[in-house]
Amino acid sequence: MTYRFLLTRRDGPVEHLTLNRPDVRNAFNAEVIAELASWAADVARAGNDVRAVVLSGAGKSFCAGADAAWLAKIARHSEDENIRDATATSAMFRALDELPVPVIGRVQGAAIGGGAGLAAICDIVVAADDAVFGFTEVKLGIVPAVISPFVIAKIGPSAARELFVTGARFPAARAYKLDLVHAVVPEAELDDTIGRYVAEIIAAAPGAIAAAKTLIRNVANVRTTAEAASMTAQALASRRASAEGQEGLRAFLEKRKPDWAK
Ligand code: COA
Repeated sequence: MTYRFLLTRRDGPVEHLTLNRPDVRNAFNAEVIAELASWAADVARAGNDVRAVVLSGAGKSFCAGADAAWLAKIARHSEDENIRDATATSAMFRALDELPVPVIGRVQGAAIGGGAGLAAICDIVVAADDAVFGFTEVKLGIVPAVISPFVIAKIGPSAARELFVTGARFPAARAYKLDLVHAVVPEAELDDTIGRYVAEIIAAAPGAIAAAKTLIRNVANVRTTAEAASMTAQALASRRASAEGQEGLRAFLEKRKPDWAK
């Protein structure tokens, strides 16, 4: 499928998704959101053909968040339209967050507002050492609403309180300390660093990775270890009985590569 504001490229099992509105630093509007939702549905359907996604932004910055001109325009729509639009934005973030495939964010320049939200839905974020982050919504009189569940899941409520109420911009080094970012490197080393993450992912079983992502989401949302117990026992039992689990364990014992890593 071709998109107006997204570039997609399949390199073997790796899907490269690039936000492509560089003139406005990849700010997203309703059309970008619809395209991202449609892309996410396609990738979820692609099964094991796609083993990893690299999400990046064309040009100087990863993503400047919601398009301010679009936000200003929607405010003049009816309340129903306004809610429908916000719901579509929320659904798009959720679809990306729940992709069964690992998503690696490649952040250069800036990741602001919804752009930092996009970083939060990535499983792994590699940022350039001069990249800037921020949840700047309050500076524009709005709030980081639909991204908040994903951001708070990554950085925790305390840092969210500081960063959401100040709207202050912060460097990659701080994003790293907050676990919003997992590796900080000079911009010229972004792709090599991502390549090393991809190699690790390709050596792991795709069904097990999808199960691990679901497990993290579910366990993060329960309050007690007792509540988690049946869920985690179920995950363990079903994975070791699965064809992948059997193949992985046999391959280890037979000192060979499992079939998904060949
Ligand atoms: N919505 C709409 N347009 C945006 C935008 C946004 N979120 N972010 C940037 N742009 C536009 C600018 O208005 C500018 O347009 P112009 O060329 O017509 O003047 C163009 O993109 C380039 O922006 P500029 O600020 O000159 O680029 P930069 O590389 O110096 O800085 C950012 C990049 C992302 C750091 C900076 O643009 C920025 O801080 N943007 C605002 C981000 C924000 O507050 N997002 C929250 C939205 S809820």
